[in-house]
Amino acid sequence: MTSTTEPSATKTLVLVIDDQLIVAAKLQNDLASFSDIELIATQDAETGFALALSKRPDVILQDLVMMPEFDGVQQILRIRANPDLADTPLVMLSSKADPGIKEKCFQAGANDYLVKFPDKVELVARIRYHARVGRAQRDRDNAMRSLAQSQSELVRRNAEVDAANRKLFAMNKLLGEESQEQRERIAEVAAFGTKLGRAQDLDEVMDQTLRLARAITNADAGSIWMIEKGVIRLKNRQNDTIEATLAKGERLPLADIVLPPDSTSIAGYVATTGQLLRIDDVQKLDASLPYHFRPEFDTQTGYQTQSMLIAPLRDGRDEVLVVLQLINARGRGKSGADRSVFTAADEAALEFFIGMASLAVERARLVRGMIMRIIAAAEMRDPMETGAHVQRVAECSVAMYERWATLHNIDDSERHRRRDELRIAAMLHDVGKIGIPDLILKKPGKLDDAEYKYMQTHSVRGGRLFAHSTTPYDDAAREVITHHHEKWDSTGYPGFFDAAMLEAMPTEFQANPDAKPLRGLEIPLFARIVAVADVYDALTSKRVYKDAWTAEQVTEFLRKESGRAFDPELVDIALELEGYFRSVRARFASENA
Ligand code: C2E
Ligand code: SIN
Ligand code: SIN
Ligand code: FE
Ligand code: FE
Repeated sequence: MTSTTEPSATKTLVLVIDDQLIVAAKLQNDLASFSDIELIATQDAETGFALALSKRPDVILQDLVMMPEFDGVQQILRIRANPDLADTPLVMLSSKADPGIKEKCFQAGANDYLVKFPDKVELVARIRYHARVGRAQRDRDNAMRSLAQSQSELVRRNAEVDAANRKLFAMNKLLGEESQEQRERIAEVAAFGTKLGRAQDLDEVMDQTLRLARAITNADAGSIWMIEKGVIRLKNRQNDTIEATLAKGERLPLADIVLPPDSTSIAGYVATTGQLLRIDDVQKLDASLPYHFRPEFDTQTGYQTQSMLIAPLRDGRDEVLVVLQLINARGRGKSGADRSVFTAADEAALEFFIGMASLAVERARLVRGMIMRIIAAAEMRDPMETGAHVQRVAECSVAMYERWATLHNIDDSERHRRRDELRIAAMLHDVGKIGIPDLILKKPGKLDDAEYKYMQTHSVRGGRLFAHSTTPYDDAAREVITHHHEKWDSTGYPGFFDAAMLEAMPTEFQANPDAKPLRGLEIPLFARIVAVADVYDALTSKRVYKDAWTAEQVTEFLRKESGRAFDPELVDIALELEGYFRSVRARFASENA
């Protein structure tokens, strides 16, 4: 017995419009054994049109001859003219094979023409085929629509950031009566704001926000928390004292820590009240205060937290988005004096900075939201796992690039710029899976040769979306998406494809065309990095077609493939970073992606 169901979670809904009751009954009977297909039927054209609108079937099967011929074609035109039904696959069922009528139907917008009664195996194949194409079309349209929406929102946000920057420069001029030192700080803050305005990725913006806020207030350490789905989640942590003790190549791991959304924690108090707090010594908080210091952080790391400055970042509707927690003020060079507490001047400088940082965070959230929506549209079948997968691949890719940049003496400003581009590109690496049918992508077992060839088109399909480049982000995305399956020894795919070649690809193709193989350093750096991070994550994950490998098996594989699949320098970096990679997996477990 062969299985008769398609491995898809969603059922295919078929609407039959035919005025002969017996036709619906026969189809119902033919299709009964295919559990992925559900039938609804009606005998009249008017009800059929209304049902099409209310039920949104995946495929419409419509009889032609039972109604007066002209009306059958009219019905096609009417369905096609309705924007909500324009893309719904429409299959004509006719009792005669008249080429003239057939052509009229296709001209009016029918997708297929079957003569009654088709063989049930063929009928099912056609229904599944049309349903799949129709779904892919809708997914693509939805992704494009949300992209367009987010982009106009982004343009508006960018204008707001510019306006905030100008206001800050103006304010700086007016601050004549302030001390020289404070004026210098405010000028510094304004320059920082401009810098932040350029980063696009949310994690990058949070990392820089914390780094810059610490520079402004001269804080030894700090954390950034985001208000998310009813909890307050740790998003970034920096600590100069602890980082100075790390071995080369080692990174401070970030645990998944959440606080309840109430005022019992310090960060929670600031998140819920929206008030800034300045605390000289968290170890000596008055017991009558609602918030308490949590000593676990210190006991785990051996670090001694004392002074804190904690501030909320708000969005346009005044909701707190993020809490910035600055820890341990230290002696500032400019005034010369040693100090261990934050001052009113620190607080004022921070408040200036926060206005700009809030806009940058809000804008970056829009960018992230847009990317996650596109990814969800591309891989609708498993949005949870996919969301976590792309975030882990992005996080590990950035960590690898950082290490690479240190080894290659890349300066800070280039490093920040490139990191931001890489993170977004890495998240999008498999966006071309949008064009791969569920039947292949979700196949529980091994792919056959033709299916695997089809699967391999995902990199060219995705790269093509970024053929028209307007920014360095597009260029980075195109390189990563197109080349993340190249291999160091030139045996990967798809080989040399520039923007013009991608653009020239037809909309439908079943296998990649031959192209000049890429080898070694001919493969763009970001693609070489994502190749390692993607395979590392694929192997340590369970997939529909395989179980997760153990850490030892993966390490062994990386070693073996060094100089074969992967850039040997990047394999060394990945092996150095393995502990960090594991902390990334723990943080982005599937359920919180
Ligand atoms: P993916 O699951 O994200 O895997 C990404 C890459 O990780 C693969 O690229 C391959 O280089 C590596 N990889 C994953 N699993 C294994 C494994 O068990 N052994 C080894 N040696 N390498 C592994 P590749 O081969 O180009 O595949 C690209 C995508 O094609 C995969 O993405 C997956 O979505 C799909 N795919 C590949 N093989 C199969 C399969 O047998 N069945 C199904 N259903 N999908 C497959
Ligand atoms: C808190 O905000 O109470 C926890 C974070 C910390 O103390 O570092
Ligand atoms: C998945 O849905 O987990 C696969 C995503 C990927 O392989 O890139
Ligand atoms: Fe891929
Ligand atoms: Fe992947």
